[in-house]
Amino acid sequence: MANFKRARIVSVGSSVPETVMTNSDLEKFLDTSDEWIVARTGIRERHIVPRDKQVAASELGVQAARVAIERAGIEPRDVDGIICATFTPDSFFPSTACRIQAQLGCPNAYAFDVSAACAGFVYALTIANGLILAGRGKNILVIGAEVISKTLDWTDRSTCILFGDGAGAVLLQGTEDSNRGILSTFLLSDGSLGDILVLPAWGDNRTMKMKGNEVFKHAVRMMSDASLRAVTDAGFDIGEVDFLVPHQANVRIIQAVAEHLKIPMHKVVTNVERFGNTSSASIPLALEEVWNRGVIGDGARVLFTALGGGITVGSAMVQF
Ligand code: ACO
Repeated sequence: MANFKRARIVSVGSSVPETVMTNSDLEKFLDTSDEWIVARTGIRERHIVPRDKQVAASELGVQAARVAIERAGIEPRDVDGIICATFTPDSFFPSTACRIQAQLGCPNAYAFDVSAACAGFVYALTIANGLILAGRGKNILVIGAEVISKTLDWTDRSTCILFGDGAGAVLLQGTEDSNRGILSTFLLSDGSLGDILVLPAWGDNRTMKMKGNEVFKHAVRMMSDASLRAVTDAGFDIGEVDFLVPHQANVRIIQAVAEHLKIPMHKVVTNVERFGNTSSASIPLALEEVWNRGVIGDGARVLFTALGGGITVGSAMVQF
């Protein structure tokens, strides 16, 4: 059994549906305006799967994972594990991760889903890190894949304007190098706040319901606290963080978290303007943009933080 000192992110990939829905598209069937949406959320457009077609989260997840595998320079048979974070699974079972495994052709991998809503990517990354350090494989695909547009009430203007569809994937790999990789993670949940953000599995009304103001308030507090824990546990000060890659819920939440943490906005990665809130896909989607542009170089210290329905919160401190 291999004995790795750390697990590091060696590649990232993403996939979004072709169709773009702009705020002015929303104005055509909702009592809303581009001005209101931009001012309250920072979102201008989002990608969504065709409204008249059933598209599975695994379809987007497979595309993102293929890119991550190729960029990592490995073969599908080298993948030891596939963990998919999603709140919009293809089915209760088989898991979306198992469906992705079948499409990718990874005969040597275990596969399962993680349900932690918008914090799902950080939860899945934490589990993958633990599995690698416990000797349960060298290469684990961590995927966030969502088709949120299928869960929305398109007459509820306070909720449906926020979300987009998409998938992101990273390849996490065991390494002997103790100086880089995932340095710390922190997870916490508060089930007593479950009612502020709900997507029922049963009943007639299976669309997302949200108390936006409540979510906003708890998101800022809990993401800031979790971030501080992850940074401290890694042995750093907040000033030593090179980039914050937060869950892309809403630009006002992101700004408030950055302000709480005293991280200047030039260190904060945002793309919510073009993708909306893609839940578990949002951190890898944002990471890919900066990594591809060479913004995140060797040695960069990157902080992830996310909050989702549950309530679930998670942060991770990573040295690239
Ligand atoms: N267009 C125009 N007006 C709207 C819209 C809309 N799309 N939505 C709501 N309004 C109206 C409301 O009806 C209300 O009107 P009223 O004063 O006549 O009653 C007014 O705007 C203000 O409504 P509020 O809900 O108080 O608006 P607020 O400033 O709180 O913004 C928002 C709402 C954007 C949802 C905000 O609460 C928010 O961002 N919350 C966080 C939610 C979130 O990010 N959830 C994602 C899931 S969890 C996560 O990912 C972290």
